[in-house]
Amino acid sequence: MNEQTLSRRLERVAAHVPQGARLADIGSDHGYLPVALMLRGVIEVGVAGEVAQTPFASAQRNVRKNDLEDRITVRLADGLAAVEAQDRISVISICGMGGDTMCEILEAGKQRLAGVKRLVLQPNGAERELRQWLMGNGFCIVNEELLRENRFDYEIIVAEPGSVAYTAEQLYFGPVLMQAKSEAFVVKWRRMLKQKQQTLANFARARDAVPQVKIDDFNQQVGWITQVLG
Ligand SMILES: C[S@@+](CC[C@H](N)C(=O)[O-])C[C@H]1O[C@@H](n2cnc3c(N)ncnc32)[C@H](O)[C@@H]1O
Repeated sequence: MNEQTLSRRLERVAAHVPQGARLADIGSDHGYLPVALMLRGVIEVGVAGEVAQTPFASAQRNVRKNDLEDRITVRLADGLAAVEAQDRISVISICGMGGDTMCEILEAGKQRLAGVKRLVLQPNGAERELRQWLMGNGFCIVNEELLRENRFDYEIIVAEPGSVAYTAEQLYFGPVLMQAKSEAFVVKWRRMLKQKQQTLANFARARDAVPQVKIDDFNQQVGWITQVLG
């Protein structure tokens, strides 16, 4: 992967960034996403935010290598602190980190989301919690994708300002994903069903009592998955 050839995962993230966007990519690492989108003429302005020194330096290097210093600003900053009012950012992408970390970043930087028209999020886990945060903070999910790459399932969640009330099942599976029920979705949830059933069997055999609330939660998940797979 490089700034010309993105991974399939980042390519699908890129597809949700609209033409003319002013993009802030938080946790940008090498900065491949904003650099690729700038080279393709998709974004007008880019900010690459990084909290760690080594990836920050890598993003700076890639921006410089492509002569994009006047179009992409690389900032060493924690989460949305990389977004400044004068950037007039319209789209924020956060990809390749835990959903719980994303919730913390969004919660801590809430006031910097004013004026943002779209979030493109690719969490590694805790998707339910992330959807819950979005719903509780005035965002509705306008699109979702599920893809498998290198033996991992990746979900992409695209959200825009709006109010919505999702059911517990929609938060769990994703409102768009459960509606579309793609092949990748069915394969993922068949696999998850087996795992959850195995965990329940392990609970039953466990020497120390597993808290009933945990068993109930797993049983509920097994029920939802069985139902959604129909
Ligand atoms: C696994 S990389 C993902 C890079 C790229 N976004 C992608 O999807 O390929 C996660 C990056 O997020 C950065 N990161 C983690 N927490 C962050 C935070 N609070 N603010 C900014 N960057 C953060 C890490 O330093 C790391 O470079």
